Amino acid sequence: MERRCLEINYTEYASKSELPAADAALLAKAEEMTRSSYAPYSEFHVGAAIRMASGEIYGGANQENAAFPSGLCAERTALYYASAQHPDGVVESIAIAAEHQGSFTQDIVTPCGACRQALAQYEVKSSKPIRVILGGRDRIVVFDSVADLLPFVFDSI
Ligand code: THU
Repeated sequence: MERRCLEINYTEYASKSELPAADAALLAKAEEMTRSSYAPYSEFHVGAAIRMASGEIYGGANQENAAFPSGLCAERTALYYASAQHPDGVVESIAIAAEHQGSFTQDIVTPCGACRQALAQYEVKSSKPIRVILGGRDRIVVFDSVADLLPFVFDSI
């Protein structure tokens, strides 16, 4: 019997100024998008920004609902919005930031399992890795592929 250990690859930066300029700009857009969040229940305001391979940028923010499961995370709001505007487009990168009680979170906020699955679908669809840029006050983490966040992804029936 063989046991294997998966490798998870990511790059960590101490500040936004160390990031490649395009990533820093996308993260700034994600931070801006936290202001579009509707989160009266959690008061946790998440913003996401997507860059398409063609250069367009689409933003999203979490939208909560009194019937809790009807709400949607920032990542899927941005992803579905981008894909609906650009059905044949290729998602190149997504940046995520969150604000709570007046400041951006100290550490990164990582996408929930459902958002990872949704992102993975578009990675498989376009056969191109989607970069994931997670921004916190103390560190910024960049994954070069959603596959690193969701190994053994379910992608076919
Ligand atoms: N949330 C997101 O929008 N994205 C994440 O990556 C984590 C959680 C939202 C869902 C809910 O509206 C609030 O944050 C608290 O969980």
